[in-house]
Amino acid sequence: MVAPSEKLPAGSSPVDVVERVETLRAALRHHNQQYHERDAPEIPDADYDHLVRELRELEAAHPELVVEDSPTAAVGVAPSATFAPVEHRVPMMSLDNSFDHDELRAWATRVARGLERVDNDGDPESDAAIGFICELKIDGIALSMRFEHGSLVQAATRGNGRVGEDITANIRTVAVIPQELEGAPEVLEVRGEVYLPLERFEALNEAQEAAGLARYANPRNTAAGSLRQKDPSVTASRGLAFWAYQLGEVVGVGVDDARLATQSSALDWLGELGLPVNPERRVVATIEEVIEFIEFWAQHRHDLPYEIDGAVVKVDALDAQRSLGSTARAPRWAMAYKLPPEERTTKLLDIQVSIGRTGKATPFAVLEPVFVAGSTVQMATLHNADQVRLKDVRPGDTVVVRKAGDVIPEVLAPVLAERPEGLAPWQFPVDCPTCLEPLVRPPDEAHTFCINPACPARQQTQIEYFASRGAMDIEGMGESRVALFIELGLIADVGDLYTIDWERVAELEGFGQTSIDKLRSAIEASKDRPLASLLVGLGVRHLGPSGAESLASAFGHLDAIMAASVEQMSAIDGVGPRIASSVAEYFASDKAIQLIEKFRAAGVNLVGPEVSSLPQVLSGKAVVVTGTLAGFSRDESADAIKARGGKSPGSVSKKTFAVVVGDSPGASKVTRAEELGVPTIDESAFVTLLETGELP
Ligand code: IVH
Repeated sequence: MVAPSEKLPAGSSPVDVVERVETLRAALRHHNQQYHERDAPEIPDADYDHLVRELRELEAAHPELVVEDSPTAAVGVAPSATFAPVEHRVPMMSLDNSFDHDELRAWATRVARGLERVDNDGDPESDAAIGFICELKIDGIALSMRFEHGSLVQAATRGNGRVGEDITANIRTVAVIPQELEGAPEVLEVRGEVYLPLERFEALNEAQEAAGLARYANPRNTAAGSLRQKDPSVTASRGLAFWAYQLGEVVGVGVDDARLATQSSALDWLGELGLPVNPERRVVATIEEVIEFIEFWAQHRHDLPYEIDGAVVKVDALDAQRSLGSTARAPRWAMAYKLPPEERTTKLLDIQVSIGRTGKATPFAVLEPVFVAGSTVQMATLHNADQVRLKDVRPGDTVVVRKAGDVIPEVLAPVLAERPEGLAPWQFPVDCPTCLEPLVRPPDEAHTFCINPACPARQQTQIEYFASRGAMDIEGMGESRVALFIELGLIADVGDLYTIDWERVAELEGFGQTSIDKLRSAIEASKDRPLASLLVGLGVRHLGPSGAESLASAFGHLDAIMAASVEQMSAIDGVGPRIASSVAEYFASDKAIQLIEKFRAAGVNLVGPEVSSLPQVLSGKAVVVTGTLAGFSRDESADAIKARGGKSPGSVSKKTFAVVVGDSPGASKVTRAEELGVPTIDESAFVTLLETGELP
């Protein structure tokens, strides 16, 4: 198979060029089939785009090699036999791609020329006369839906642009798509993107992992697979969503109707008819403002609850679109801008296993460094033994690596076409790589564990975690110091941090009096941390910060938590049976009791917050605060909500009671609230809410 890097050197002979063109075409046909027909792409989009670009450049330089059925001319591939064919009355085109600002500017110049907005020298006039609409490029599957007299009658994929697949039955299960539109004309064909919200994608993958099934690679492929199900109830269970972004055939509205004057008025109209239209769109005058829009989303793409792979810029006026027209493949009035790829290929050098604080043995990939989504990746998770087996990645393989936002980089799959001969499958180790005790996989567990509580790897990660900012926040107690202190026998568990022999530390190289004083006072200060921080620091399985806070405020003392039954703990709001059983199990061990005694002896705070005397007007209500408030810091607003029995989560969901919007709010929180119909309120309404528990 071809790699994008194997480009022809300059001055290659015509024979080389012919060969390269043929190789590229064969590769693109293969990848088209994998992507469009099998929903199983083998290479990332970015590598695919590279191959297309190279072929286009070669075809442009050697017009004699151009053939009609070149993959550069086709949009997608022919539909499969699973679904009935649907002929698109207006072809579904693809988009031209640009990858940098200058390419966009060059496009704007071509548009200005095409619209004859040029001065006497043939130079384009200000592009301000054109008017663009900037939209997000949703990373999903293109869909065409036909409504007749307001009723949804047909939904089809793009297919090859002329003929797609009839997936009406599946689309009827997508909750956000209305089946009826009030006030729609005789015929309204709406195009848009079906996508899988990130929350759903993560939930699906958790379920896959728990069931010992392969994780899905990314939301786009999962959406594609979910749409092409024979059984619509499978599609229904996936939780797909949709954004409308384009009109297809329209009958019953004149072209001079104001709703059809511009792309922006058309989108507003689709929204009024009840279709989901992405709110993050903007009409601008110049290409420089388009670039601002793009740069904003390049920074904020991960604030969105779904994936985008770029932006789409369209000439806003529909009469200007008509006069610009299209090439065989794509309209001249639109241009896609691709953001840096979040999936790349690289070499898998080795697979190793790391041992976490709970003893969990996680296989991870050691990679040839590769630049993905803004940083260099050298390691990526492989999750667990099942996932390595199901993916069958082997050291020596070329693999696809994905890094989306803050998520830990992940190896998705090998590129089988590039596997060297004779690579042996990788075997999960039988013994812990650190303490050499046997690894254990409990029944019904997706993970394998080192169960030796004294395993130095476990202690190391546990102590680092205890000292980390989200727990006891002991500055200066990082990875290398923890490793050194364990090695010297100065500490064996987190309780020992409070009885370190500082005279021995003073004898160590690299520890001057100042750094010792700093570290000692950081450890000393940690004794006064809230009880919830201590609970988090213990690293009890399933117990996160919010569960820890609930336990600390409900019981008021660590001793009371240790004495509580599973039933008593599960009854607390925000705890539940899974956390309660895990906490009870943790405190049932002698080791935990000894640890707590070490804390008690050292004077570590074991007391929870005082039970609030304020009326619990927000009991059970979640209030999200976004942006800056004049009268409350971020912590103060969260404390005020909690002191009245409420919760202050970091994200908006169906269950959110209200979103308080301050200065410079997070765009996605406000949007999400609007989508879900959650009330948004200002600071003065927030004050009323705190007093009364009611929205004014
Ligand atoms: S307009 C003729 N707008 O990107 C223009 N496409 O790479 C038709 N896409 O096939 C497309 N977001 O599946 C348009 N806001 C948006 C889009 C968008 C995502 C997809 C669409 C298209 C593909 C081209």
